[in-house]
Amino acid sequence: MDRLLVALVACALVGSVHCATGSFPWCYHLPTCNDTTWPTQVPQHCNGSRQSPINIVTADATGDSSLTAFTFTNYDSKTALKKVMNTGRTVKVITDSGVQISGGGLSDHYESIQFHLHWGNGSSTPGSEHTVNGKRYPMEIHIVHVKASYRGNTTQAIEDSNGLAVLGFLIEVDTNTTGLPASWKTLSSYLANITEAGQEVAISHSISLDDLLTGVDRTKYYRYLGSLTTPTCNEAVVWTVFKESIKVSKDVIDLFSTSIHAGNSSAPLMTNVYRSTQPAQPVRTQLAETSGDTRTCYSLGLMALSLLFGKC
Ligand SMILES: *[C@@H]1O[C@H](CO)[C@@H](O)[C@H](O)[C@H]1NC(C)=O
Ligand SMILES: *[C@@H]1O[C@H](CO)[C@@H](O)[C@H](O)[C@H]1NC(C)=O
Ligand SMILES: *[C@@H]1O[C@H](CO)[C@@H](O)[C@H](O)[C@H]1NC(C)=O
Ligand SMILES: *[C@@H]1O[C@H](CO)[C@@H](O)[C@H](O)[C@H]1NC(C)=O
Ligand SMILES: *[C@@H]1O[C@H](CO)[C@@H](O)[C@H](O)[C@H]1NC(C)=O
Ligand SMILES: *[C@@H]1O[C@H](CO)[C@@H](O)[C@H](O)[C@H]1NC(C)=O
Ligand SMILES: *[C@@H]1O[C@H](CO)[C@@H](O)[C@H](O)[C@H]1NC(C)=O
Ligand SMILES: [Zn+2]
Repeated sequence: MDRLLVALVACALVGSVHCATGSFPWCYHLPTCNDTTWPTQVPQHCNGSRQSPINIVTADATGDSSLTAFTFTNYDSKTALKKVMNTGRTVKVITDSGVQISGGGLSDHYESIQFHLHWGNGSSTPGSEHTVNGKRYPMEIHIVHVKASYRGNTTQAIEDSNGLAVLGFLIEVDTNTTGLPASWKTLSSYLANITEAGQEVAISHSISLDDLLTGVDRTKYYRYLGSLTTPTCNEAVVWTVFKESIKVSKDVIDLFSTSIHAGNSSAPLMTNVYRSTQPAQPVRTQLAETSGDTRTCYSLGLMALSLLFGKC
């Protein structure tokens, strides 16, 4: 029973090629198994009412003062990335134990188990899962964390409406550079070792999560309650999508869609690995500057004036 559940969860979280037990053999591109079929195949979850990803409409995000800064534990560890694998549907990196997040309006500590990527077909055909005001970004990284009290038991976590906390970072082209940032060039150098589905290789370079998240102000983000974006689509995810993007050179982005296959070396290259956006959800963010302005107006006793002029 345990083994079956573990296999099912592994499928649910990332979609391994060895999804024999539990989940149906879902895919992104064949008409028989692409994301339009998931709600029929797993109606109890994939046809739910808080499915991910979504299009974030920034003007509709409401201010929430509980969305404080995160505390990142061991995000600076140069040995926290253990191995990288081609699952047939994504590139996944297993993280070491002890990598945690807390704060950020989360109710608990959450422990990182893995991160993986979504992409399109080169930097000119974007493939992020979340879109912002309708804009799709070239890539997106998802760092998956499990509520610490479950001690890594993802079976329990996916039954809890906030059992998982996923951090999503959008990736944009760093114009006029090649091979940057160094951390991403290093990570992408492993793609040559996992060109076929099922292959994996240990990470021997010193790269930290902080290195991969370079340049992003991690105090500014969107928050909503959603789901896993792959079957079985469990509605167990507290989503955080950061406002600032990670800037990566075009040549590094392009490596993902040009070097690895969705099966053996005769199978198609892995491209456009993202689920389409799902119905909108309430999105929260840090209190906007405009509300700060409002407070200033009020404190200056200009409320009447501001009403007259329709400002603040
Ligand atoms: C998914 O398959 C359906 C048919 O089942 C088809 O209409 C749709 O275009 C396909 N979508 C993608 C992204 O391949
Ligand atoms: C999905 O849910 C909607 C109602 O929310 C229902 O009309 C539809 O039949 C369901 N689809 C499947 C495949 O269960
Ligand atoms: C991806 O882009 C390449 C080069 O532009 C093109 O040859 C290929 O057909 C594209 N693949 C898909 C699935 O669109
Ligand atoms: C995880 O939790 C489930 C449900 O409570 C339990 O049956 C299972 O034994 C646990 N698995 C592990 C590996 O502890
Ligand atoms: C990139 O290079 C082109 C051509 O050299 C130049 O026109 C453009 O302004 C540069 N863009 C940036 C963002 O530096
Ligand atoms: C990864 O691939 C490179 C280039 O093909 C090769 O030199 C290296 O030995 C491989 N590393 C591992 C750990 O397989
Ligand atoms: C690749 O996989 C296909 C489909 O599973 C199979 O028919 C073919 O023989 C495989 N090719 C190689 C070189 O292993
Ligand atoms: Zn993902």
